[in-house]
Amino acid sequence: MRKLLHVVGARPNFMKVAPVWQVIANQTSYQQILVHTGQHYDVNMSDIFFTDLGLPAPDYNLEVGSGSHAQQTAAVMVAFEKTVLEVQPDLVLVYGDVNSTVAAALVCAKVQIPVAHVEAGLRSFDRTMPEEINRLLTDQIADLLFTPSPDGDENLLSEGVAESKIHRVGNIMIDSLVRVLPIAQQSSVLSNLTLEPNRYALLTMHRPSNVDDDTMLLAWLKTLTALSQRLPIVFPIHPRTHARIDNLSFDGNLSGLRLVEPLGYVDFLHLMSQAHVVLTDSGGIQEETSYLGIPCLTLRENTERPITVEMGTNTLIGQDTERLAEEFHAILDGDASWDKRPPEGIPLWDGHAAERIVEVLRNCWRIS
Ligand code: UD1
Repeated sequence: MRKLLHVVGARPNFMKVAPVWQVIANQTSYQQILVHTGQHYDVNMSDIFFTDLGLPAPDYNLEVGSGSHAQQTAAVMVAFEKTVLEVQPDLVLVYGDVNSTVAAALVCAKVQIPVAHVEAGLRSFDRTMPEEINRLLTDQIADLLFTPSPDGDENLLSEGVAESKIHRVGNIMIDSLVRVLPIAQQSSVLSNLTLEPNRYALLTMHRPSNVDDDTMLLAWLKTLTALSQRLPIVFPIHPRTHARIDNLSFDGNLSGLRLVEPLGYVDFLHLMSQAHVVLTDSGGIQEETSYLGIPCLTLRENTERPITVEMGTNTLIGQDTERLAEEFHAILDGDASWDKRPPEGIPLWDGHAAERIVEVLRNCWRIS
């Protein structure tokens, strides 16, 4: 029996592994092993996603926790090498672009266990982003690369990755979204937060480039507080951002900003699907809003998901607070042309990416 080992570590991994896990469980006899590196460990950054997504408890938790990039990456490598040598899987699947992704891929390459990268080929072309380094390195050493969109294939080919390793399967995150959206509509998060559908904005912000620099963080907070006078802005706040705001001597009043604890997948999905506009520096949220048809203002200079700008609902704001205010008001005034979605939707963002991944695995091994 084939043994497949999945590695996840941080919040954005969990909604990517869930559909692959489920399709493999339903359609094959492969044995699956789930490894959580413990990069994220708070209940509302990790456990709640396992519940919301119907994932089983991990078979192994490496409990690496937080630290500098080197500490975290090294801790995953040391612990994961032991696990993978003990389990001896036929294939390891890694997801997305977090430190756990590159750490596990590197271990596999060294001990010569085949590794597949789900969500391969995305590039921001900005090497100041830790995730860009993780993406570049993971894709160089992966044996199978599952891409979400044509730009992913092109990036990999231009970096010399063999065409035979690249498989365009579509967007795996949309699989989870499609499956959980009907459940999310039952969420009571709006009434709990006394919000009306379409009468609030949703904000997420945690990237080092936005929150680790006090001047930048202060500029964002001032602008966001001013914008929240027009429309309430709900802000589920990542632990990194929380710590930075606590450190900041901000004498303004944050009251227009509704700071709440990080939310689970079901509640966040409902909140996003009912928002008037979403403001974010996340990667995945650019994709989810594009699928849902909610305008998205991305607080970054670049994106590794250009298809959301070309064929979705995404607008890149950069780190320009005035531009943010202009675009925010234009959306509220109905003056902005933010919807660039084709009538048939973005190709292969259809909820069936996991099935296509399993098809590729079957073809590789020519057995079920
Ligand atoms: C990581 C990913 C980023 C992803 C984000 C989503 C990398 C390089 N970055 O960034 O791509 O968008 O996750 O959330 O892998 N902390 C807690 N509790 C937790 C986890 C973290 O309090 O459960 C705090 C710690 O103080 C930690 C800080 O958050 O030092 C940052 O966590 P870390 O995993 O280093 O990176 P993220 O900013 O979460």
